[in-house]
Amino acid sequence: MPALTRFQLEQLSFQVDHRRAGEDSGPSLRICDAGGAERLRFDCFRFTPHFHLDDASEFTGYGPVLDPIRWAIEGLRSDLPGWLARTGYTGPTDFDVSECEATLQAVESSLRNPPARLDDLDLASLKTRLSEKWNTYPDDIHPAWVAEMDFPLAEPIRRVLERAVDLSDIGYPIAPRDTGLREAFCDRMQKLYDWEITPRRVEILTDVVQALYVGMLAYSEPGDGAVVQTSIYPPFFDAVRETGRKLVEHRLIAPVAGREMDRAGYQLDLEPLRGAVDPRTRILLFCNPHNPTGRVFRRDELEALAELARQQDWIVLSDEIHQDLVYPGFEHIPFATLSDDAASRTVTITSATKGFNIPGLRTCVAHFGSAEIQARFNGAVPRHVRGGIGLLGLYATVAAWRHSDPWLDEVRDYLEQNRAFVLDFVRNELPEIRIQAPESTYFAWLDCRDLSLDPSPARFFYEHAKVALSDGANFGTGWEDFARLNFATSRALLREILEKLAKAVRNR
Ligand SMILES: Cc1ncc(COP(=O)(O)O)c(C=O)c1O
Repeated sequence: MPALTRFQLEQLSFQVDHRRAGEDSGPSLRICDAGGAERLRFDCFRFTPHFHLDDASEFTGYGPVLDPIRWAIEGLRSDLPGWLARTGYTGPTDFDVSECEATLQAVESSLRNPPARLDDLDLASLKTRLSEKWNTYPDDIHPAWVAEMDFPLAEPIRRVLERAVDLSDIGYPIAPRDTGLREAFCDRMQKLYDWEITPRRVEILTDVVQALYVGMLAYSEPGDGAVVQTSIYPPFFDAVRETGRKLVEHRLIAPVAGREMDRAGYQLDLEPLRGAVDPRTRILLFCNPHNPTGRVFRRDELEALAELARQQDWIVLSDEIHQDLVYPGFEHIPFATLSDDAASRTVTITSATKGFNIPGLRTCVAHFGSAEIQARFNGAVPRHVRGGIGLLGLYATVAAWRHSDPWLDEVRDYLEQNRAFVLDFVRNELPEIRIQAPESTYFAWLDCRDLSLDPSPARFFYEHAKVALSDGANFGTGWEDFARLNFATSRALLREILEKLAKAVRNR
């Protein structure tokens, strides 16, 4: 019998489980009376959602509905006493409205989110994936590079995708403005950061890197400069170079050997940056939380940078795609929330694809702090050059932002334990590698300078450990002796990866 989750509303018990029934499966909600007898059951199944009144053998199909869970919850929300009366229930039904609402919300969340099975990954099936992570290298190489997680999809996302496939509902998407995506984003920003924004200032794009490129074209001319903090996610360099702009490199300061590595994070030192910029420097390409170091910049660091942006009159393209994966003790602060001035010059670019692990669905949002910068962005290239947005990405993103936080919470907890495991392992078994506890996301930025690995750490580990890491050289000049490890996998697979790295170093 699968685990039941129970919620009490006065004398009624609401019980949620996730089950299979023949070929069908899905979440089930039972409402039981004070004596424990089942009064009502909603089986919100994939193929034939239905309900049972009183006598569990009688079943009534919902008919075609968009969302069987929503159908059940909305029915109860609008008339719980009426539903109970249909079962012959004669107990009290004068429920407190807010208690009833809180119970229904908790029930809905539980119906939508069975426990995620994060520990239960099978290497052989992962290897059959066709995504970039699993398909770039030969079969004997264990991939731990590109930013994909190995975990199963959040159930609410799986359900919207399955629904579309079951119904062959893959026609043209309705206009992005009507999908509810922009509203879902604004509500999320309000809930997470108390940041009040309007859907009118939100554009939907296919991906974050696209937004960086369009931003480069919109806010600068060929030959103008763009500031990039290195080490950095490599497409930042491409966005500058391929649009003919000039790279203004601003190196983060690596922690000093011998200092307490946990606390001395990669630092933004603005002094060298002040000396490197000139009047043709127009754009700050900012990454926060930062890939690859995992830094989540503090308010004082951000304010100093925002002040420099004000003095230099920069547009800030703030890539905040890793914002969902921040560890306890750290706080993500959207750059645009720092001040009115920061807001007016900032394009905030983010997506559900990183936190909820759906990068193949190619959906992203850009928020503009002023109508003026939004108009410049929209005028930079004809709209069709930006491409159309896929229906599945739109619906999956709404499902992620509206319904999948329980999954995200589990993933974050799991990643936090993986982070501790990596730190412990590296410090004990690979003491020559310096490592910093990332404040966010699932990368360990491995400082391999003391090992002098030839020709590079990533190449060495690829050849001698059969593990594919991301090569530090791609993250900027001066970072060639670093490598990025992706630890978003099961603990067992992570252990295998780390043991391979340690063995290769021991046998070198
Ligand atoms: C900082 C950063 N920005 C952007 C992306 C990619 O986003 P998208 O796939 O939406 O272009 C990644 C992917 O790892 C990333 O780490």
